[in-house]
Amino acid sequence: MKGVFVTFEGIEGSGKSTQIGLLADYLTASGRPVTLTREPGGTPIGDQVRKILLDPASKGLDPVAELLLYAASRAQHLREVILPALEKGRVVLCDRFSDATLAYQGHGRGLDIDMIRALDRIVTGGRRPDLTILLDIGAAAGLARARGRNSSRELEHEGRFENEETAFHHRVREGYLALAKEQPERFRVVDASRSPDEVGREIREIVDDMLRMSN
Ligand code: TMP
Repeated sequence: MKGVFVTFEGIEGSGKSTQIGLLADYLTASGRPVTLTREPGGTPIGDQVRKILLDPASKGLDPVAELLLYAASRAQHLREVILPALEKGRVVLCDRFSDATLAYQGHGRGLDIDMIRALDRIVTGGRRPDLTILLDIGAAAGLARARGRNSSRELEHEGRFENEETAFHHRVREGYLALAKEQPERFRVVDASRSPDEVGREIREIVDDMLRMSN
């Protein structure tokens, strides 16, 4: 059986981590081999890069340097984890991938989209996810959730991006929606403002349908 590559995207507070965990449990319980991973990170080297990227002390990071660090983390991750898992027929669930770079560094930071796409072709060799679930929520609602989470839990970091202004996250959201519109065959947009149960049910239906068709 050939592997299936599913990515989760969305702004801060869209509920990605919860939903990806629920889906991993569901698929594992139904006997599917699942690889659960994330970006930036997903490998020991990528996790080092993640530390630099998410450290509030990296405030002075140049936007192009930042872009290249995300790209470096992805290149390592794709070759070390994602492609081998797909080769073994596993379902790879990845929390963020190339679309995050287009949405955050492109639409959010304002870096040239064509440059990001060109870099992405080098990094991924054109390998795209088979399915991308976009958890869509308004910037203000997402940030309110993310801030609540940060203050109620000890996190690895306060989150450099969560300190960005709402307008930035609004641009990121619009960027994601534009990407989804451009590639409707790959993207499924899910309304993430609903309860985790409702969102989870819709995601399971989408993924079940997709797996049925790919068998
Ligand atoms: P997360 O683990 O909470 O999703 O955090 C990762 C952060 O990194 C999030 O704020 C989005 C950001 N990010 C980018 O800006 N570009 C990228 O390519 C990726 C993968 C993440």
